[in-house]
Amino acid sequence: MVRDDQLIQIDAGGWGLTWAVDGAGVLHQVGLGTTGHLATADVDPVWYPLAFPTFGGGDTYLPAALRVTHHDGTSTTRLVVTGTTRSPVDGGEHVVVALRDELFDLHVELHVRTHLRSAVLEQWVEVHHDEPGPVRLHDYDSVAPFLLVHDDAELVHFGGSGWADEWRWTTQRLDPGTLSLASFGGLQPHLQRSPVALLSPNGAAAEDAGDVLALSVAWGGNTRIDLDVRPTAEPGAPRQLRLRAGANPYAADYLLDPGRRFVAPTVAWTWSGSGRREVTRRFHDWTRDRVLRDPQRLRPIVANNWEATFFSFDQARITGLIERAAALDVDLFLLDDGWFGTNHPRDDDTTSLGDWDADPAKLPDGLAPLARAAVDAGIRFGIWVEPEMVNPVSDLFVEHPDWVLRDRREPREHRNQLVLDTLQPEVREFAAGVVDRALGHDPGITYVKWDANRPITDPGSAALGSDRQSNLWVDHVHATWDLMAEVARRHPDVELMLCASGGGRTDHGTLRWFHEFWTSDNTDPVARVRMQWACSHVFPAAAMASHVTRWGGRPMEFACAVALSGRFGLDLDLDSLSHEETSVCRRAVALARRTQDLVQQGELVRLVAPVEGQERSRAALAHLSSDRRRAVVFGYQIEAPTTPAPALRLHDLDPDVTYRVRWSDLHRDEPVDLGLRRGAAVADEGLAWTASEPLTAGIWELTAEPA
Ligand code: GLA
Repeated sequence: MVRDDQLIQIDAGGWGLTWAVDGAGVLHQVGLGTTGHLATADVDPVWYPLAFPTFGGGDTYLPAALRVTHHDGTSTTRLVVTGTTRSPVDGGEHVVVALRDELFDLHVELHVRTHLRSAVLEQWVEVHHDEPGPVRLHDYDSVAPFLLVHDDAELVHFGGSGWADEWRWTTQRLDPGTLSLASFGGLQPHLQRSPVALLSPNGAAAEDAGDVLALSVAWGGNTRIDLDVRPTAEPGAPRQLRLRAGANPYAADYLLDPGRRFVAPTVAWTWSGSGRREVTRRFHDWTRDRVLRDPQRLRPIVANNWEATFFSFDQARITGLIERAAALDVDLFLLDDGWFGTNHPRDDDTTSLGDWDADPAKLPDGLAPLARAAVDAGIRFGIWVEPEMVNPVSDLFVEHPDWVLRDRREPREHRNQLVLDTLQPEVREFAAGVVDRALGHDPGITYVKWDANRPITDPGSAALGSDRQSNLWVDHVHATWDLMAEVARRHPDVELMLCASGGGRTDHGTLRWFHEFWTSDNTDPVARVRMQWACSHVFPAAAMASHVTRWGGRPMEFACAVALSGRFGLDLDLDSLSHEETSVCRRAVALARRTQDLVQQGELVRLVAPVEGQERSRAALAHLSSDRRRAVVFGYQIEAPTTPAPALRLHDLDPDVTYRVRWSDLHRDEPVDLGLRRGAAVADEGLAWTASEPLTAGIWELTAEPA
């Protein structure tokens, strides 16, 4: 029997986690999930799995969440609980369980912060010590729950081959063995693999049914999600799973000095007993409440020049594009790469990063006339920067060759550039100044796209001692976050887009200083439907910048319809659009204006999945207002249909309310009025699928009639 004073119960809001301290002071996990998690354990906790296994702290066969080498070379750690504190915080509670090694003056704190509105738990670990010398941390996971899983347990994870292949959906059975989902590269690691996983311990989950444990590692560096599944002797008996997640410690032993504190990344996680949609509702609420900047502010409709001009433009060309963008009624013009470089004009990606003055050949009067042209045309102006990088062909590199990350070898170029060492304070100040300087050209510049176009390949920093070089993978993330926080602090009203060759930094940790991210450089709407579908599981559409381009050569209506279910924008050569294409874009912008509050701030309902099963040929999703009086539904026919067209049954409207239904495929100026439907009828009979040809879309807008 566990005494009440031995129990540590964490109510996460509809699910929870219970730990208990045994007679020897060891912490065990006695409950997890939607049911029973708050029940008093009726068995001595000593029989339950460890809550936070350390190397040498229990069953040595178990993977350890914490593995350190103490100052004297001892490799085992055994922790006992020394106390628990609970304090109310905004929207929940902050629980800290303090543990200490039996032998050494090493302290570990397990931090758990609840957020009851969203039911997402934030969990992380802090380590500090007063041993006579440094302690080496080899493994430092942030969460390590133990689960019993069925033999048909399933895992969904996201990641493709790299650039332009983010958010590829992979479903796999969770068979016995160890599965390690790791990312590397330090900078833009999420290009390879998103730090997100959806685990269905009791067999495949659906949108509205099934258990799902979802987690996101809020870390802007290398991440790792490890699943260790033990086979069982009895067929059909549940299997034991130890799930560990946090920063990826590969090649990143951390040398921790006495008196210093190591803070592992936050892992945000939740357990839904009713499928993936509930996971999404929770992660969207949590992202808006706890991560995203200015969540209540509608994001602008953006026109970007990147795919229109690449590096080749001048003042007249950009002014012309600004005028056309304004005529289409967008909110903001974003000038991308290629505007800077004095001694080395940025005419391609081989030069100039670091030299952040306008190129006098392209822009003899600087950025101000462009910002003025935008403001005069009634729109805002934004600018692209890549403050953490330098091209060797630049004045900056000649002046400060020692500002780059490198070890004793010649650093390797990637996209012809090197990574600035943000661990050096003067480099951080320089990089913050890049943004100050870009914005300082004109007060009309109110938006910044912050890019980072290469990974770390030469992990060495002059700011770290020779015995601490492997700390770089962790310290670099904190240093870069300090820089981003400083920029956000200096420019509270400027919107920031996070980009790293596309979605290389799509994590809930880095996003805290930004308003949105560039989801992927891959803007082919066929790929984008699936990427945005996957990404939508943990990020709201307000965060997912989605621009119409020529990528894939798809029909303009289809490309617009796909971009409209994210944070909408256009990245097209507006000078060369045909008359009809211009009309399509104008209609799309008008539709974005009518629906963007729903898309960005409403509740997402995924209706037809393009990523698995028989429905791969089509996708459908809806965004509803919280009062259920408005909705927008997107239906995409991606490929030739393989199954009969479904009716789109949307169950979330008010059944007793009558809605006006308007339908559009962006071919006509005005949507087609489909008449009035009761909410109950939309749920029972559904909306008739209209897009029969591949690469066509239908968009339904539903508005409650006045009572
Ligand atoms: C990266 C970004 C693109 C664009 C280019 C500019 O690839 O993801 O959107 O800004 O850099 O060089």
